[in-house]
Amino acid sequence: MNKSNIVLVGFMGTGKTTIGIELAKHLGWQFVDTDAFIVDEAGMTIPEIFARHGQSFFRDVEERVVQRVMNGSDQVISTGGGSVLRESNREMMLRGGMVVALSASEETIVQRVSKDTNRPLLADNPLENIRRLMKERKDAYQFAHISIQTDELTVTDVVEHILAKYK
Ligand code: S3P
Repeated sequence: MNKSNIVLVGFMGTGKTTIGIELAKHLGWQFVDTDAFIVDEAGMTIPEIFARHGQSFFRDVEERVVQRVMNGSDQVISTGGGSVLRESNREMMLRGGMVVALSASEETIVQRVSKDTNRPLLADNPLENIRRLMKERKDAYQFAHISIQTDELTVTDVVEHILAKYK
């Protein structure tokens, strides 16, 4: 890795944003959420981007944002759950800093995100879509430098674990 960033990857609902904000506070680094940058760049919400332009347009904007953000340093970067699907993004993330994959069980993820209306890929049938996407992406996060199963851990536990590995 060339840059001093911590890059959080993982399925929707694995706690990337919650952990990322805490971690950034501890380090005195900037917290960056790639989804928020995508919304800024597109000038619409994520559901609107998917509805008007489709997933591949969303992935193109996401790729531009990921590539740009990875050029900065001293940031904790929370990425969208599907950003790892493109190899170019995975490469940039690995060069951008320490990549940490967060995971959680299907039950935890369903509890956290199934009522969320801001995630278009889950829309009509959250439970079935979560199951299908988790299966499709089961190996997608394995490129990370470290992986943390978060179900039994508090936010503080996860933050401490990451800090210990970063030294
Ligand atoms: C997506 C995850 C979302 C967001 C978009 C697509 C995905 O981010 O980028 O809805 O493909 O898994 P979160 O992982 O922050 O929910």
